[in-house]
Amino acid sequence: MARPSSTNKLILFLAASAAALLAAYLFWSFAAEVKVLLEHRMGASPSASADTIVKVVKLFLVGIIGYLFVRALNSLFFGLAFQLKRIDAPTLIRNIFTIVAFTILFLIAFTFLFPDVNLGALFTTSAIFGVILGLALQDTLGNFFAGISLQADRPFQVGDVITVGAQRHTGAVEEISWRAIKIRTFTNHVVLIANSNAAKEPIEVCPRENLNARIVLFNTLYTDSPAKTIHVVREAVREADNVSDKVAPIVRIRGLGDNGVDYEVKYWLNDYAKYNDTDALIRQRIWYAFRRAGLNFAFPTRTLYVERPGRAAQRDGDGGAVVERLSAVDIFAPLSADETSMLAQAAVRHVFAPGETVIRAGDPGSSMFVVHQGKVRVQVSENGRPRTVATLNEGDFFGEMALFTGEPRTANVLALEETEVLEIGHAAMKQVFDTNPDLVESLSFIMAERRQGLASQTDDSATSTHSSAGILSAIKRFFGI
Ligand code: CMP
Repeated sequence: MARPSSTNKLILFLAASAAALLAAYLFWSFAAEVKVLLEHRMGASPSASADTIVKVVKLFLVGIIGYLFVRALNSLFFGLAFQLKRIDAPTLIRNIFTIVAFTILFLIAFTFLFPDVNLGALFTTSAIFGVILGLALQDTLGNFFAGISLQADRPFQVGDVITVGAQRHTGAVEEISWRAIKIRTFTNHVVLIANSNAAKEPIEVCPRENLNARIVLFNTLYTDSPAKTIHVVREAVREADNVSDKVAPIVRIRGLGDNGVDYEVKYWLNDYAKYNDTDALIRQRIWYAFRRAGLNFAFPTRTLYVERPGRAAQRDGDGGAVVERLSAVDIFAPLSADETSMLAQAAVRHVFAPGETVIRAGDPGSSMFVVHQGKVRVQVSENGRPRTVATLNEGDFFGEMALFTGEPRTANVLALEETEVLEIGHAAMKQVFDTNPDLVESLSFIMAERRQGLASQTDDSATSTHSSAGILSAIKRFFGI
């Protein structure tokens, strides 16, 4: 059945008022006749009872008119408060107003019609009446007072999403009445939770004005890069509808599962009441973003690897790319194709996460690195604080100083983004030097230049300037060439 509109309500109210007033007017006008009629009917019994019946009917009619009057007053008062001050009084407050005002009017009418009855004495002396009333209203009063404390505390308001009770009912609060909290669940059901129950249960509140967060889970295959996954998902989620732009979504690894890497994305919503739709949209966006970026969801898999003896670069596959990379490195330009391919086969690939340390200053080192993919930063300590000396990109090399001189590492090298490096060890380089003695010279120039850079940036005496001639003889000594 459709709810009556406010116009219908007004018409109904006016009709009821008119009927009640008419009934009261008629009864008052004919009260004397009714009394005589009753006396006549009741025969010889005392006229006091006929008089009482008439008064009770009068009280009943006054009660109806009083109730209608209080309702009118209620609408006028709270309607005005809303119009003037934009204060929307909760239903419970309106109800309390109605009950109190009606009780006062009723008591006035009662004392007026029954001046001989002492109401105070009736209430205070009648212990049985009190017990009966107390027992009968136990639950009602419990709900009533719990409702008042809810209104006073205001832990949540109409429109907030709450989860309450052992059954974990979740929905948006529609009304807080003197008896119950009414919530509308996300399946459009209405759940009523008695105020007294709600007062005893923990309630999870997601306030409407608050930036509420949600967590959505997903996973990838172990072969998919975490740095790439995090970037791709963060960007995909950020643009989805109802995702707040006030806080950037957080994507992080939640665990290393049986089938793949488990991730969670935490995002904040503009309208929390729509979290089901938004969670679904986020999952959809992740699917499409994965598709574009070539990432893969993990599914229950058992992968069987058959290990065959072979060189590291071959094991990692994509050996052609390594050869290509090394032949594009300046210092290896003079090498023949065979020599470059020998170097590529000796190279070991390592992947570093953004921010990870590839080389630590002061450590011993017997290998050098070529940046295959990504970017690294060379840092030294200046007055105890890190200072960037250089940023090296794809095709640049580092770590040659410790390798060619046998001295400790002169600087820290950190991955700026996900970075893949090719590590070339002492033995492979010695082989290259044996067949290309000129290489040592060009390397010594670069190293002298780098040392110059270090000396001008750092207070560390271990990195004092060396001439390229000095370096050259140091390398030759170290490699025995
Ligand atoms: P190594 O000393 O073995 O370890 C740290 C590396 O940082 C060092 O070798 C060089 O490869 C690199 N490095 C040091 N100073 C510079 C610089 N000024 N420019 C570029 N790279 C440098």
